[in-house]
Amino acid sequence: MTRRLMSARMVAAAIVSLAAAAPAMAQPFAKPEDAIKYRKAAFTVLARHFGVVAAMANNRLPYDAKAAAENADIANVVARLPYAGFVPGSERGGDTKADPKIWSEMPKFNAAAQKMQDEMGKLAAAAKSGNMDQLKSAVGATGAACKACHDDYRMQ
Ligand code: HEC
Repeated sequence: MTRRLMSARMVAAAIVSLAAAAPAMAQPFAKPEDAIKYRKAAFTVLARHFGVVAAMANNRLPYDAKAAAENADIANVVARLPYAGFVPGSERGGDTKADPKIWSEMPKFNAAAQKMQDEMGKLAAAAKSGNMDQLKSAVGATGAACKACHDDYRMQ
């Protein structure tokens, strides 16, 4: 009895720690189309929150320090998500513009993803500091990292 209880608790603990370690990987996708929808949705949310910060840095939206910091924080978290949707077999099977060469150049693709996440981290820090010069340059570097990957891996 005690043993059974213990092992149930250990299983529960293992599940909790797995979920904490890899939130985006906790559930496999049932079919390629689901993975494609997931990554596109994540990019859409990412673009929305990054876009608000970029618009403030470029004077297309009035600057609001609190809103900039909040949107940058959200973008910084969401920047980690889309890549879980590039699972093997999802180069087709839905409405996708992902270049199939992603799957044969995964280390290079992952490096481009990491570069963007690093720049997004700096963007979040700059938005928190409220330093407009830092924010402008972080927006430029992050946008360039988005574009570099799109040029290589997103088909028009
Ligand atoms: C490592 C590569 C990579 C990086 C970095 C990257 N993207 Fe993308 N992005 C892609 C690929 C590949 C697609 C196409 C996904 C598909 O159609 O399956 C895409 C699609 C998109 C889409 C279209 C989603 C849709 O509904 O079709 C948007 C918007 C987008 N990205 C915004 C961004 C923004 C903003 C950034 C930077 C903050 C960024 N991306 C960084 C690879 C990248």
